Amino acid sequence: MTRSATKYIGILTSGGDCPGLNAAIRGVGKAAHGIFGMQVIGFRDGFRGLMENRTTPLGLENLSGILTVGGTILGTSRDKPRRMLVGGKEIDVSESIIANYQKHHLDALVCIGGGGTQKNALYLKEKGLNIVTLPKTIDNDVAMTDVSFGYDTALGIATEAIDRLHSTAHSHYRIVVVEIMGHRAGWLALGAGIAGGADVILLPEIPYDVEKVAEAIRQRSRAGKHFSVLAVAEGAMSIRDAAHFRAADESKQEARTKLERKKAKNALQEFQSRHAGNTLRLAKQLEGLTGLESRVTILGYVQRGGSPSAVDRLLATRLGTACADLISEGAYGVMVAARGEKTEPVPLEKVAGKRKTVPLDHPWITSARLVGTSLGD
Ligand code: F6P
Repeated sequence: MTRSATKYIGILTSGGDCPGLNAAIRGVGKAAHGIFGMQVIGFRDGFRGLMENRTTPLGLENLSGILTVGGTILGTSRDKPRRMLVGGKEIDVSESIIANYQKHHLDALVCIGGGGTQKNALYLKEKGLNIVTLPKTIDNDVAMTDVSFGYDTALGIATEAIDRLHSTAHSHYRIVVVEIMGHRAGWLALGAGIAGGADVILLPEIPYDVEKVAEAIRQRSRAGKHFSVLAVAEGAMSIRDAAHFRAADESKQEARTKLERKKAKNALQEFQSRHAGNTLRLAKQLEGLTGLESRVTILGYVQRGGSPSAVDRLLATRLGTACADLISEGAYGVMVAARGEKTEPVPLEKVAGKRKTVPLDHPWITSARLVGTSLGD
């Protein structure tokens, strides 16, 4: 079964944490050591630890007992090789990264992360490193994979929260607005909203009309249901805000000079910080429009915490072990994607810079509408 001479591999986790990261580290590490006879080393805190050469041993003894543990034993950060804050300045640290990769005689580097990590990984691949990535994120928005690990666990947590909020909503005849993570993709809000039977689901992909949302709530009241539960994605926007956002985003894409880029970046950041309180404002608006009292629950980081679900443990183990297998064959520059029951290497070029949002004709959207859920449009 052993197909390789001793290979040296490094592993890091990057971007937001999520349940299943340790299961993936374990999957890669156990297969790499036990089956392929490789040596494995961990880098702390994402690309920053790789740049600073902060390592942690990942021998078989370190890989035991972590399957069920939340977060990441390696630590993580959102630092990017292309632009990392060092001594108060943003600089390209890829040279230090390459030097450390060589110092450890690595044959491959495994980067476990979401959309941003795939981009960073491609950057390092283009600098000549052998990279294999795994897709993780509770947002489920990594392109070219059926699903990312972390999503199923977060889906369960958000669904349970909606279940629990139902009883308090109907006891007090209130509108309960549940904010669910997902700035650019609404998979989590949509999945949990459907599974939890939310009456209204608002997604970044479908700009909403607050009048239509209010009318859906009033209709329920007329039918004798004097409460409503709303599952609202962090990034859900009114039609007006969505138009502003699109314009700000386009200006950023089209900016040619440094000054134009800075101005556009600032405008976008300003819009985003204003939008941060959107769920609270929406709840207040709905109170005014319907006469029902409202309450907001922001689920936040609870959705990313704790032990991974069985589905995520299984997915992370499948992807992790497939990753070790690919490295043993010398297949680099790919993300290990989930494709049905199988896994598949996808070139990083096809993943980086892309985002898997909810298609408007997705069967979940159709089902939500068919059970009478308002999507605010
Ligand atoms: O990508 C995962 C995610 O939890 C998003 O749902 C959320 O918008 C974002 O990360 C929060 O980022 P941070 O951990 O940097 O606050």
